[in-house]
Amino acid sequence: MDQATYQGIALDAQTALALLEWQLEMGADTPLLDDPVDRFDLPAQAAPAIPMAQPVPPVAAASDTDDLPARIAEAEALASAADTLDALAAAQEGFDGIELKKGARRFCFADGRAGARVLILGEAPGDEEDRQGRPFVGRAGQLLDRMFGAIGLARDAVDAERALYITNVLGWRPPGNRDPSPDEIAVSLPFVRRHIQLAQPDLVVLMGNVATQAAVGRRGILRLRGQWVQAFERPALPMTHPAYLLRNPAAKREAWADLLSLAARLEALSV
Ligand code: URA
Repeated sequence: MDQATYQGIALDAQTALALLEWQLEMGADTPLLDDPVDRFDLPAQAAPAIPMAQPVPPVAAASDTDDLPARIAEAEALASAADTLDALAAAQEGFDGIELKKGARRFCFADGRAGARVLILGEAPGDEEDRQGRPFVGRAGQLLDRMFGAIGLARDAVDAERALYITNVLGWRPPGNRDPSPDEIAVSLPFVRRHIQLAQPDLVVLMGNVATQAAVGRRGILRLRGQWVQAFERPALPMTHPAYLLRNPAAKREAWADLLSLAARLEALSV
């Protein structure tokens, strides 16, 4: 039997699956049709008549709308009314003032142990997090687990002293893993502040540019990393994101120095 090919590549089942996974990785997560169409095999068709142009009302992107202050106020009211982490998760998941909710698969609130001394604040769910509804479970998450494991901390540690609690600035995945917009960050921040208040960590790790900008209003993680700041009413350490470390392994050396700084600060707080 002839084997199908795609741009010269033999399309056996495994290759086809790998291509599909690659497209998902690149953010193509919405199939346009249920069945594939071989467009080289379509009968010639008369060009469709072009209808008269109708005036189209402009569609405002969420970031163009002027209801942002109202959405932030609603997020603040919902967040401050939540007295427990479960109540906060339900309030944030139910909040409709963020468009990303419509395109995401699952809400991603937190993972690890509430009550841990260290809280890691990441950016936003990626593809795997969006499937599982848990932060940092993809490749970057596996590296994150190894990094913190090297200083004796783990999200599944039974002992609160050795545990991690992990969340993100955004609870919903941005399509194609694009950067969160300033509006998306602004409506998410009230939930993040309340989240950290309720989880009560001793220290916060600001993982990457988005978390650092959301917390202290400054970008430039390569300059800011390793310098302790005050954020969410406690000491916080900006670090380079594990996704960056996967692309730039040479930067792991500085990340290791930051982990040692975190371990030393924890130790100093214990005595
Ligand atoms: N990157 C993040 O910042 N958070 C996740 O949960 C996954 C990847």
